Amino acid sequence: MSRTVVITGATSGIGRATARAFAARGDRLVLAARNADTLTEVRAECLAAGAQVVAVPTDIAEAGAPDALARAATEAFGGVDVWVHTAAVMAYGRFDRQPEHVFDQVVRTNLIAAAAVARSALRLFRATGAGTLVLTGSVLGHITAPYMSGYVASKWGLRGLARALQQECRDLPGVQVCLVSPGSVDTPVYQRAANYLGRIGRPPPPVSSASRVARAIVRSADRPRREVSVGRINVLMRFGFTVLPGVYDRLVGPLMRRVGLTDEPVAPHEGVVFTSAPGGTVSGGWRGGRDHARRSDRLG
Ligand SMILES: NC(=O)c1ccc[n+]([C@@H]2O[C@H](COP(=O)([O-])OP(=O)(O)OC[C@H]3O[C@@H](n4cnc5c(N)ncnc54)[C@H](OP(=O)(O)O)[C@@H]3O)[C@@H](O)[C@H]2O)c1
Repeated sequence: MSRTVVITGATSGIGRATARAFAARGDRLVLAARNADTLTEVRAECLAAGAQVVAVPTDIAEAGAPDALARAATEAFGGVDVWVHTAAVMAYGRFDRQPEHVFDQVVRTNLIAAAAVARSALRLFRATGAGTLVLTGSVLGHITAPYMSGYVASKWGLRGLARALQQECRDLPGVQVCLVSPGSVDTPVYQRAANYLGRIGRPPPPVSSASRVARAIVRSADRPRREVSVGRINVLMRFGFTVLPGVYDRLVGPLMRRVGLTDEPVAPHEGVVFTSAPGGTVSGGWRGGRDHARRSDRLG
């Protein structure tokens, strides 16, 4: 049976791969992100796959945006069965060297806006007694890494929020809150990140494809689970972080500099933290080797 699925963050990476995956099943889609042109492209892809699609350009961090999106979905398709929230931004830089407004906007987008999405979705679901909210966490909601403090803080906060909402929804058997927590994924988020570190970031290996994470999201919508981890060494990293914190802290800085950053210099910039950029793609070019990654679009 086809469902109405809202996807916030549908123009790039995991969100775009998720839109394609639901479209292939003939679901009705409500796609949202800031970039209207790229959203039109994604809508065309999903229409071609046979889905009914509404695209709603939205800055989800703006007050009232999730409620407006919920209203648009209800007007178009009569309600929402699944809401997948993938929208997020990233910033690299030592905590004291990155502008305060950039740190704040990362937390606002990744945590406060996710909470606003959850509020809109759960109000709809409580009214009908049914619906599934899938939030996108990260292994960085379980462990920490230097130079990504806003992102790490937001993902720890999001995991706490998801657990609290799961507990609050226990009275509603038809309402589910799921968290999908990937490790490194091949998406453009690294090139699109704000950067005050001087070197472009990259996903440390092993790197999963965005479509693998999208499949985990679709599975969560079909058979909701509290949390699903995607990434071969997530468990190992969590074990080291928890059981051997001293060793972990000694290794994580050098490892981050060696495998979490490219050697490509970059001038300080805000990336897409405040405004979107054209040309979202599913892949960031990180699985085709370093030269491929160099060729991929980036802000600089
Ligand atoms: N890539 C990884 O290695 C990785 C690992 C673990 C977890 N994750 C998580 O997976 C999710 C997707 O990440 P990704 O790697 O696919 O990132 P991405 O390729 O940069 O895509 C992020 C999406 O969020 C949208 N977005 C950002 N700010 C927005 C805003 N204010 N309002 C509406 N939409 C907004 C972007 O579209 P516009 O620019 O058009 O608004 C884009 O569609 C995130 O929650 C991320 O934290 C990613």
